[in-house]
Amino acid sequence: MNFHARRFGRAASSYGEHSGVQTGMAESLLSLIPRGREPDPDSLLEFGCGTGILTRMLRARFPAARILATDASERMLAAARLATPGAEIDWQILDAMDGTPAPLPAWAARGFALAASNALVQWFPDLKPHFALAASCLAPRGIYLVSGFTPGNFPELNSLLREPPFAYSSFPGNSEADVAEAAAENGLSVESWSEASATEIFPGPEQFLAAIKAMGSARRPETGKALTRAKLAGLIAAYRERYGVPGGVRATWKSWQACLRKP
Ligand SMILES: C[S@@+](CC[C@H](N)C(=O)[O-])C[C@H]1O[C@@H](n2cnc3c(N)ncnc32)[C@H](O)[C@@H]1O
Repeated sequence: MNFHARRFGRAASSYGEHSGVQTGMAESLLSLIPRGREPDPDSLLEFGCGTGILTRMLRARFPAARILATDASERMLAAARLATPGAEIDWQILDAMDGTPAPLPAWAARGFALAASNALVQWFPDLKPHFALAASCLAPRGIYLVSGFTPGNFPELNSLLREPPFAYSSFPGNSEADVAEAAAENGLSVESWSEASATEIFPGPEQFLAAIKAMGSARRPETGKALTRAKLAGLIAAYRERYGVPGGVRATWKSWQACLRKP
């Protein structure tokens, strides 16, 4: 299991308390579904379902569809199953990062009409293998609704991590060009792309850092640049000084969402 799936597994129990932004992103994703022009999808596949926020929205929007919800973390899947009682959903472990073809259930042997993932792909070092997997799972004319964060996510934190003693040089996230290139390489067309920005006020930098840790979204320190206790204290002080606002400190989420289609 990869670094982020392990972190998310540990965060499974506290994720729900801190996932307001992901809920908003899931709602935006659903709004991308083309309306009225085509029949409702009858088979749905979700990658990185986490605690099931998007899964439950898909279930409610398409009550007649069969759903396969997947995640790389057993603990996340267990939390999702528990939070979604009574719904007929197939839950399956699947690492969606490296492009290994997923065994499709018999009911989706012709491919899924709709695939979706919310706030998952920003951790993948390369989108191409993942989009290859998504394309291989889709039926002809199937759509893939996908969202993530841009490399400019948390600009406040990034500005501090860019400076000494951290001197991080790169940040997780996907640009529009990354998505367009990986989609084109896998024969998917980009039907829509949009970006959103949401600023949240936390009581202090400690609560902001604790929230992203609880969501499994803490950044991986660059090799050889461990985050020592002293560096963390410096980061917290600098964050408070530079990004303090009435009521606490600010942090800005920068997300994107896209609708991709298989020919
Ligand atoms: C930020 S959470 C988002 C969860 C959910 N989609 C939501 O919107 O709340 C990311 C999820 O991706 C899962 N994940 C991380 N790496 C993965 C991988 N390589 N393949 C599949 N799932 C993965 C984590 O276990 C976690 O549940």
